[in-house]
Amino acid sequence: MSERMTVALDETAKALVIIDQTLLPNEERILSLTTAEDIWQAIHTLQVRGAPAIGVAAAIGLYVVSWRFEETEDIFWEKLRQTKDYLATARPTAVNLFWALNRMIQAAEREKNKGSEKIKLALQQEANTIWQEDIEVCHKLGEYGLTLIKDGDGILTHCNAGSLATVKYGTALAPIHLGRERGMNFKVYVDETRPLLQGARLSAYELQADGVDTTLICDNMASVVMKNGWIQAIFVGCDRVAANGDIANKIGTNTVAILAQYYHIPFYVCAPTSTIDWQCADGEAIVIEQRSPEEVSKMWYQKPMAPNGVNIFNPAFDVTKHELITAIITEYGIAYPPFSETLRQIVLKEGKQK
Ligand code: MRU
Repeated sequence: MSERMTVALDETAKALVIIDQTLLPNEERILSLTTAEDIWQAIHTLQVRGAPAIGVAAAIGLYVVSWRFEETEDIFWEKLRQTKDYLATARPTAVNLFWALNRMIQAAEREKNKGSEKIKLALQQEANTIWQEDIEVCHKLGEYGLTLIKDGDGILTHCNAGSLATVKYGTALAPIHLGRERGMNFKVYVDETRPLLQGARLSAYELQADGVDTTLICDNMASVVMKNGWIQAIFVGCDRVAANGDIANKIGTNTVAILAQYYHIPFYVCAPTSTIDWQCADGEAIVIEQRSPEEVSKMWYQKPMAPNGVNIFNPAFDVTKHELITAIITEYGIAYPPFSETLRQIVLKEGKQK
């Protein structure tokens, strides 16, 4: 697969480097960002998107912004916390954003009272660790996912939980990329994913570039490919997993899960453990981002495709209940129902705090 990284730290320029995903698939433009405002804007407008990539971008972003603070340690702390709080408002649903920013602050706190230069070094190290871990986590997750499918299988995916949503490999698309490296051939059906077309613009783009047999469908065609017997497994990513195994993912995921149950097709959710929010008892507690009505009525069209002034409801994510999920694939292993027990067991087995 492509060696391009979706999100990276340019240590020389002390800049966050991303591919502007709003321009794909027509143009691969690289952006180099150094201010809190530009980094906030990049996350908010989906120039960088996908839960893991948002987290990594925020971590690197906090480091490159704080590296430019020149004040005494007291003022440094004030500005660091302000910047962290500001970046945390860029998008509300992906828990990785808050997880990564909290990790950065904890790393800084371990160097408290040793001067701002030491704290900057700690922030640099933590940003690099978060970046590196993302590659390793996605690779492991992909290996587990690959055990659930066989050569020639038809796979359906929704939105983009691929390499463009992480540093490399992706989550839901990681098994497909790894399988491809090993000479396996899957037939992948990609939901276009209205209204922002992450499936058409991003998943189809990265799968095709990797030589995967890729077929793009409109979201409302998913039942047809399932009914035709073309789909052996569904793989999606997620933005937040609640403690009971309910998940929030791109709008339309719940529809796919309901269809999968009807057609008896396994519905797999790929989630790095950084996406689990133990504070959320169930999916009802997950904040769902509401986005601009223009994304539905005007974006991508030459002329508006809805009457002026019509009411538009545009939630960016929906919640899929745990009952509809066959398994949640993490970097530590595959959790099967009951998720309220198995997710904890998987994390505790690794000796990690939950
Ligand atoms: O609005 P987006 O494009 O950030 O939504 C992305 C998704 O819903 C992904 O499926 C999810 O973040 C997982 S990415 C590995």
